[in-house]
Amino acid sequence: MKLNRRNFVLASGATALLACRDRQPQDSALPTGSPVREAEPAPWDQPPGEPDASIFSWSLQVGDVGPDSAICSCRCTLESGNLTLVRADGNQWVEDQYIENVLTNNGVLQHSLKDLSPDTAYRLVWTNTERTLRSPVGRFRTALAEDQDRVLVFGVSSCLGSTGAPWPTLSHAADAELDFFVLGGDTVYADGSLNRADYQAVWDKAMARQGLVDLSASTSLVVAWDDHEVDNDWFEEDLIEGQYQAAVDVYRERMPQKVGPDGSLYRSLQWGRTLEIFILDCRGERGPGWSQMMSPEQLQWLISGVQNSSARFKVVVTSIQVTDWSTMLKDALDTSRWSGHPEQRQALLEGVAEVEGLIWVTGDMHFGALTYVDPEGGTAAHQVEVMAGPAGSRVNPIPGFFTGDASQYPHVLSEADLWTWCRFVCDAELGTIAVEFRDNANAIVASEILAL
Ligand SMILES: [Fe+2]
Repeated sequence: MKLNRRNFVLASGATALLACRDRQPQDSALPTGSPVREAEPAPWDQPPGEPDASIFSWSLQVGDVGPDSAICSCRCTLESGNLTLVRADGNQWVEDQYIENVLTNNGVLQHSLKDLSPDTAYRLVWTNTERTLRSPVGRFRTALAEDQDRVLVFGVSSCLGSTGAPWPTLSHAADAELDFFVLGGDTVYADGSLNRADYQAVWDKAMARQGLVDLSASTSLVVAWDDHEVDNDWFEEDLIEGQYQAAVDVYRERMPQKVGPDGSLYRSLQWGRTLEIFILDCRGERGPGWSQMMSPEQLQWLISGVQNSSARFKVVVTSIQVTDWSTMLKDALDTSRWSGHPEQRQALLEGVAEVEGLIWVTGDMHFGALTYVDPEGGTAAHQVEVMAGPAGSRVNPIPGFFTGDASQYPHVLSEADLWTWCRFVCDAELGTIAVEFRDNANAIVASEILAL
C-alpha cells in the first residue's frame, strides 16, 4: 500500500505529532504564541555602484550568524573589495558599517562582521574600491539575543544534484525572506576531484546556478557537509595526500562558517531562547574502514550540548539519517547510516531520550520524508526526523515499491522529479514546529505540525 499523503491521519495519541493538515493555501497563517517578526523595510534601492556579474560572478554568501556577528563572502575577480552594510531602522535602511580593502583570497572575499545588533535585518553589497561596480545586494538577519524569543522561520534542503538544476526550490525559498536556511549536505558533487583546483571548479559551477545565487543573497546559510563535498562515500585511506585538506579549505571558503571545537566542522548556533541548531560532521571522522560514525569527542559534545541547551527547540542537522529505516529499506546502505553504527547510535539516542523539543534534520537519501526515528518500542520511537530535499539530485524511487507497514514513516516523497525544500515554523510558546514540504512550484506537498 502506498501512503496517501493528502489524507493521511496519525492515529495514536502516543505519537509526538499534534495534527496533520491537508494541502494548505500558500499564505496560510498559523496561530502563534511567541511574538512574530517585525516587518522589514522595502528592499534597499540605493546601493553604491552598478551591478557587474563578471567581477562578482556568483552572488554573495552570509554564514553562521550570531546575535552580533556574521561571516560574509563573495566571489571576486579583483585583488580586493569593499563591503557596505546597512541596517534596518524603522522602515529605512541606515549605513551601519563600511569595510575597505578586504583582500581576495583564492578568488573569494571573506570578512567577519562584528558589533551587529541582535534580531535585526541587514542588507549588504560588495564593491570595487571605487564603489562604481558591485555585487548583487544581499540580505540577512542576525540571531536573537540570548534572552529573546520569537517565532522563527527557516528552510532546509539538501543534495543539489545537476538533474534538477538550477534548483527552483531554492529560488522559492529565497522569496520567503527566511531567518536562515540550512544546506544539509551534498551542496556540491565533487566526485573525482583531487586537488584545490578541482574542488574550486565544482563549487564555482554550483554557486553560479540561479537557485543558489538567489538563496544565498536572500538569507544566511547554515551548512553541513555530506560525502560528496569530498567524494562519493569516501574512505580516508583512499584519499591522496592533501586531498582532504583541499576539500575542507574550499568548502570553508565558498560556504562561510564558524570553526567548531578544536578546529572541527561540527558546531552549534543559538537563536535566543527559541532554538539551538547543532551541525554535525558525519563524514570527516569515520576513521579507517568507517569504524565509527564520528569521534567520541563529537558524540559527547552533541549529547551534552543537546542535554544542556537553554533553547526551547534543539535542531540537530545530521547529513546521515538517524532514523531506523530497516523496515522499509532492509539493510541497504546501512553502513553509511547511523544504524550501521549501533553502539554510537544507541549511546546518542539514550543520551537525548528525555530532552524536550528535539528534532532531527537530514538529507542524503534523495527522497523527502518525515519519520519516527525508531519503530514502536524503540528508544527514540517518540522522536521525529525530517529528511529535506533533494533540491536537485535524481529522486530515489525505491520507497515507492514498499508494500509493508509504513506507520513509522508518515510521509515519504519519492515520486520522480519531486524536488523539495522544507519550511519550518518554530513557536516556542506553543511548543510546536510546523513543517511544510514545498515542491518546484512552491506548492505544499506534505505538512505536519509537530508538538515537541
Ligand atoms: Fe546526495
